[in-house]
Amino acid sequence: MISDKIESRFSGLVKIPGDKSISHRAIIIPSISKGISKISNLLMSDDVLHTLEAFRSLGVKIEKKENKIFIHGNGLNSLSQSKKDIYLGNSGTSARLLTGLFASQSFDTVIQGDKSLSSRPMNRILKPLEKMGAKFESKNGNLPIKIKGTKLKNSTIEIEIPSAQIKSGLMLAAINTTGISKIIEKNITRDHTENMLKSFGAKINIEKNGSESLITIDGKHELNANNIDVPSDLSSSAFFIVSALINKGSQISMQNINLNPTRDGILKALDKMGANLTIKNKKWLSGEIVGDLDVKYSELKGCELDKDMAKLMIDEYPILSVAAAFANSPSVFKGLSELKVKESDRLELIRLNLTSCGCECNVIDDNLIIKPSKIYNIKNRNIRTDFDHRIAMSFAVMGTIVGNLNIEDSNSINTSFPNFKEIFNKAGGNLL
Ligand code: S3P
Repeated sequence: MISDKIESRFSGLVKIPGDKSISHRAIIIPSISKGISKISNLLMSDDVLHTLEAFRSLGVKIEKKENKIFIHGNGLNSLSQSKKDIYLGNSGTSARLLTGLFASQSFDTVIQGDKSLSSRPMNRILKPLEKMGAKFESKNGNLPIKIKGTKLKNSTIEIEIPSAQIKSGLMLAAINTTGISKIIEKNITRDHTENMLKSFGAKINIEKNGSESLITIDGKHELNANNIDVPSDLSSSAFFIVSALINKGSQISMQNINLNPTRDGILKALDKMGANLTIKNKKWLSGEIVGDLDVKYSELKGCELDKDMAKLMIDEYPILSVAAAFANSPSVFKGLSELKVKESDRLELIRLNLTSCGCECNVIDDNLIIKPSKIYNIKNRNIRTDFDHRIAMSFAVMGTIVGNLNIEDSNSINTSFPNFKEIFNKAGGNLL
């Protein structure tokens, strides 16, 4: 529920938690390396905790001491069979990445998920892994899946769908497979797995040709433990960026935000819309570029984004759509088919909920068209989220202007941002 306070003003220094994508990898990669890795600023959200518990069930010692996580890795061949099925909750990243890693083990593993994850497509990772000799038992390529541990054969695999999850699942399979494996990626997707594997000493080479990459991995070489300081999550910061942009008089700052160019599309899109957003203090942190963001209220204009942008900001369309609803001209976001297979059908939920708020919003083919208005006459104050954290947070931001929204199942926010409500309300929000 959002309180009936129409005017919000966001101000101050907002502390954004650790990056979700990097946090998953900061558990997986140390768990298969040799030695103790110290992880700082790990995101302790539901999704990441599912990955952490998965490795504990596979025999990895993981300790928490004074806000740091210590992972005691024993090498590539050190994982042991879990006594129980591995439950991954809502986490698509855990499901796709771990399927690749588990396919190359010497034991079988069953992975399960919640209702949303059990309806999300897994064939996108199962099919390419099968080309490496992997074996699975599943109904229609959905969770629960029995992953039958097998010695995989090094292969050349071409990925059709733009997905870092598919690429990373394949890379984790290749790391544990003897010989040279090649992965051909036609689209740019986030490269955190490549960055982290390199810093753990993996034998990996990446050749880029425009938006195509050839990733070559020489497998079965041990990785060495390394310490990781997880940058703050750009995707999580986006809810605060847009809050400040659309609420008059706002001015906020955020530090150490991940600015990895393979996923910074939201910054480019907001720049096109006329956002007053400054980046300072750029530096490297654990193999990733980070920087500090200053954001001020801005008169936004609508913009048109083509399908190539979707690969660089797929998680940010819900919040960008809220920004577009407060611009002074229409926006068209193209090529959003992947939004339909996220934690919910995000394309439909953006359309439905913006329409409920009185904003003219249409989906034509895979394109989203938003026609903003100066004043919104709310038709339905119930926001349907289908337990999707990013839909819930995006409409919490919408509520800072239109007031009094009932965001259903808002506890899904724990998936990626456990203390969102506290930080949001402290900065100027009105989420009850
Ligand atoms: C992620 C990749 C993206 C993104 C997801 C996290 C990752 O999914 O939507 O939230 O950590 O690799 P796809 O790669 O399937 O698009």
